[in-house]
Amino acid sequence: KAKVAIFISGGGTNMAALLYASRLPGCPYEIVLVASNREDAGGLTLARAEGIATFAHPHRGMERAEHDKVMERAARDAGAEFIVLAGYMRILSEEFVTRWAGRIVNIHPSLLPKYKGLDTHARAIAAGDSHGGTTVHLVTPELDSGAILQQIEVAILPDDTAEALADRVKLAEHQLYPRALADYVSRGNDPAWLIEQVRQRIAALPEVE
Ligand code: GAR
Repeated sequence: KAKVAIFISGGGTNMAALLYASRLPGCPYEIVLVASNREDAGGLTLARAEGIATFAHPHRGMERAEHDKVMERAARDAGAEFIVLAGYMRILSEEFVTRWAGRIVNIHPSLLPKYKGLDTHARAIAAGDSHGGTTVHLVTPELDSGAILQQIEVAILPDDTAEALADRVKLAEHQLYPRALADYVSRGNDPAWLIEQVRQRIAALPEVE
């Protein structure tokens, strides 16, 4: 199974969804660590109760790249092959993201490329959008701009508040994230993906004189 470290900053409901999905038969990933930049993140208590190793280190007073290294060390020590961000409210340093390129995934509560950054639900409502939603994507140095893996649309209701919409989007996220992560870590079993890898290798070969 693919070994996954989850980074959280808050309540960790997506972490919980990923964790319980990992206990279903046939799930291709397992959670080896839940780590946070906040010692009081509610999700850490749940992870501990569920027997998952946890780690916390506050970022206050640290350079961004230094804090990233502390989190990365914990992930590596736990044997993580993938880092999965689930409400981790820190921008990651370019060095860190580059070291984990293709092995770091995020969930963002909008239909990317719309509404990168914060306050996604309030912005979707203010714009009069018929739908908000959520996106699982690869993490690249530019915020919320990596390759989109999977999305779900969520209807916006006439009297929706940002809080009510956020709660409904979370229901969608709890369905989406385990599936998208499972599909991504299993992509090596997908013939189309393998053929694409070979095609890219061939395209990268030097010209024969
Ligand atoms: C989720 O809705 C997630 O999409 C969002 O924070 C929430 C975390 O909830 N992430 C971001 O806004 C990232 N910029 P949770 O702690 O209950 O999983």
